[in-house]
Amino acid sequence: MKIKDQSLLKSEAYINGEWIKKETSFSVYNPFNNEEIAQVSDCTQADTDLAISAADKAFKIWSTYTANKRSRILQNWYKLIIENVKDLAHILTVEQGKPLPEAIGEIKYGASYIEWFAEEAKRVYGDVIPGQSKKNRITVIKQPVGIVGAITPWNFPSAMITRKIAPALAAGCTVIVKPSEYTPLSALALAELADRAGFPKGVINILPSNNAQEIGETLTSNSKVKKISFTGSTRVGKLILKQSADQVKKVTLELGGNAPFIVFADADIDAAVEGCFASKFRNGGQTCVCTNRIFLHESIHDEFVEKFTAKVKSIKTGYGLEEGIQIGPMINEDAVTKDINLLKDATSKGATIITGGQRKEGLFLEPTVICDLDSQMDIFSSEIFGPIAAIYKFDSESDVIEMANNTNYGLASYFYGRDYALIWRVAEALEFGMVGINTGVMSTVAAPFGGVKESGFGREGSKYGIDEYLNIKYMCWGGVE
Ligand code: SIN
Repeated sequence: MKIKDQSLLKSEAYINGEWIKKETSFSVYNPFNNEEIAQVSDCTQADTDLAISAADKAFKIWSTYTANKRSRILQNWYKLIIENVKDLAHILTVEQGKPLPEAIGEIKYGASYIEWFAEEAKRVYGDVIPGQSKKNRITVIKQPVGIVGAITPWNFPSAMITRKIAPALAAGCTVIVKPSEYTPLSALALAELADRAGFPKGVINILPSNNAQEIGETLTSNSKVKKISFTGSTRVGKLILKQSADQVKKVTLELGGNAPFIVFADADIDAAVEGCFASKFRNGGQTCVCTNRIFLHESIHDEFVEKFTAKVKSIKTGYGLEEGIQIGPMINEDAVTKDINLLKDATSKGATIITGGQRKEGLFLEPTVICDLDSQMDIFSSEIFGPIAAIYKFDSESDVIEMANNTNYGLASYFYGRDYALIWRVAEALEFGMVGINTGVMSTVAAPFGGVKESGFGREGSKYGIDEYLNIKYMCWGGVE
């Protein structure tokens, strides 16, 4: 791989501050051309146990550092990531497929969580509460939960790691990361920079593995691990929740989505087209917050579809390292097949493909616009996770709210409209953790990211993000007279 600093290309596990080469390894492929990029050490239960012991020892040191000291090390890490942004983005594009400018954006987005929580580390305030008896005083302190297991996805191989472990580290926790088997190289490059930043041994451990289940079960069944944070499918999230229940572990789940994008009759159509395009096609449609169901008021339906389709037709797909590419390949064969089947199901039930719809060589599906959809089609209730814009028509506010909420998911939602009262009504009525109002992009470190219903619970980013890694302890002081 052509990067400046070759030492960022790691293929070993990172446990207790050591790079550990395993006898068995698994292949990582470039999804654009299916070429093998690396053979990466394949961790097992034994490695996970080793990482847990290391994280346990390290916790006794790291959690007693002053917040300032932890903050400075996090800041070192942030600076190193920014200095190496080009190399990190290159690695990310090669293993994940997203276009290089988008990969650069992800590295900066991911780094912003480290910068943010380096600051928040110093603001983990307690409380003093007046007691109900004259003799008593009440104080509250916050303490790190302990060892955190972070299981992260392939769609944001860098940012989903930092979004979890930066607040954990800031709080004083130690971490064990199981990155996706599709994209372990970005995680290992982050570990190399963390090593240079000065984290003590065992504070950060990265376990690449082709056997997510084995690592997940080891993390959830070990009582030393106090918290699991997972981003991925709702199916796997439910398993992790069940496994964590035995020890009543703290859990954060950032799971699937089925985001509605509603355009009301009075909306600024050009702005809505832009917003919808950004939300739908970010990362080739492979984000949990991507628009999944576009609801257009019947009075603006045709105008929107015409303008939106023109933009979709202009999308350049190809190799993410080439200039001008807007969408790279999908992640694997299953992802492409799933979307092709959704299109087949919809068209067999009366839907119309306006543009796209064809499979292309490699892991590509043409950017697609499909209309005349209804709630009986599989596409209505499935997370598309690909470049298909699925369009529905509505005629009343109450109907569209009912349709939008007609899903087990509750992560992101979006709508465009101008009427002030309508905006309040709709924003309050949508059963989602996040609502974009006249915007299609709302992910930022400053805001609490997370869902309701089967999209999970817990919040990442913002002032709330660090609370997920802290326990509240109440101390009652008696005999104060
Ligand atoms: C995700 O797809 O899970 C994260 C996307 C984001 O942070 O915007």
